[in-house]
Amino acid sequence: MNKKTIRDVSFQNKTALVRVDYNVPLENGVITSDKRITASLPTIQAILDDGGKVILCSHLGRPKGEADPQFSLKPVADKLSELLKLPVVFADDDRVTGQKADEIVKAFKQSENKVLLLQNTRFRAEETKNAGDFAKELAAYGDVFVNDAFGTAHRAHSSNVGVCAYLEGVLGLLMEKEVTMLSKVFDNPRRPFVAVLGGAKVSDKIGVVKNLIEKVDTILVGGAMAYTFLKAQGYAMGKSLVEEDKVDLARELMEEAKKANVKFLLPLDIKTTTVFEDTKEFALRKVDGLRENEMGMDIGEETIALFAEELKDAKTVVWNGPMGVFEFEHFAEGTFQVASAIAESDAYSVVGGGDSAAAVKKLGFENRISHISTGGGATLEFLEGIELPGIAAMSEK
Ligand code: 3PG
Repeated sequence: MNKKTIRDVSFQNKTALVRVDYNVPLENGVITSDKRITASLPTIQAILDDGGKVILCSHLGRPKGEADPQFSLKPVADKLSELLKLPVVFADDDRVTGQKADEIVKAFKQSENKVLLLQNTRFRAEETKNAGDFAKELAAYGDVFVNDAFGTAHRAHSSNVGVCAYLEGVLGLLMEKEVTMLSKVFDNPRRPFVAVLGGAKVSDKIGVVKNLIEKVDTILVGGAMAYTFLKAQGYAMGKSLVEEDKVDLARELMEEAKKANVKFLLPLDIKTTTVFEDTKEFALRKVDGLRENEMGMDIGEETIALFAEELKDAKTVVWNGPMGVFEFEHFAEGTFQVASAIAESDAYSVVGGGDSAAAVKKLGFENRISHISTGGGATLEFLEGIELPGIAAMSEK
């Protein structure tokens, strides 16, 4: 990569303003996955080891451009301190870089403390617009800007792109690792190259499907997005989630795949229910046998076997999106079986998206996947072949 990283600068006696992605899942104020916090530790540690101080900033959730206590980064500051085994100063300022934060930052720089976390950057309306003085105010806290927020790299916001107008920007270690590992799937991949796509909507994945058609040998489609493709093939999908306005596009994508000689495999059978709930009262239907009052909830056994067979001999695998309503116990099987098949293959495997990553973790297969990305939308845009603004804005070597 031709972008500067933290290895290209000295942090001795400097303060690094570090953008991380601490947009972590929270339930009643408790963090349910600290993966993104853990993933940021190597960069923080490397800057500290090099003699620098670290001021971290991140967004959390989607507050509406003003302070909202349910999106406070306080629980993250506590968790970070526990993981880092160091005190973390939390600059709890509703304006993020207001007078209160200015004073806390000033005292921090004169103290023995090494790590400070600012309040949620989206408490400021300028953040997502990348406008106004917010970027300048953030930049004033640091001597160097480090972008380690891969999960946010597809956004051009004040705290990851705007600040580069005022400070030299370099990539953190997580960012570098994500780009290196994700790039490998497109850089002379070993074949067969199989992509597994799931999740609710075709509309989220159009660009990814288009780009992958040019690169892979096989595309396996599960999850609710498969129902739109099946409808395009003429099957009645009952009450299943079908994007009616994407049916024609789904047909075109399948035609493109055919022209490119890419195997495009859809479910053969589907687990269905008549109500959207976690129930053992489901039916297993062939794709041509769905009743009018039924909706698809997961891929069936024949489909699992078909997908597992393709994955068995794969040498490169990309997986994004669950195969069914994975959060429901009775409809998690398809997603789990796909995770197992990928873990068992000796393919170079990359998994992106929260649900797919959670399935891998739940099964304890994390060490059998080559790379589990911390990105959701960012990983998808990377797979679409789009240049991510959070990376583009960093200094060239
Ligand atoms: C994510 O979780 O995908 C990133 O943190 C970006 O969040 P956003 O979709 O709210 O911009």
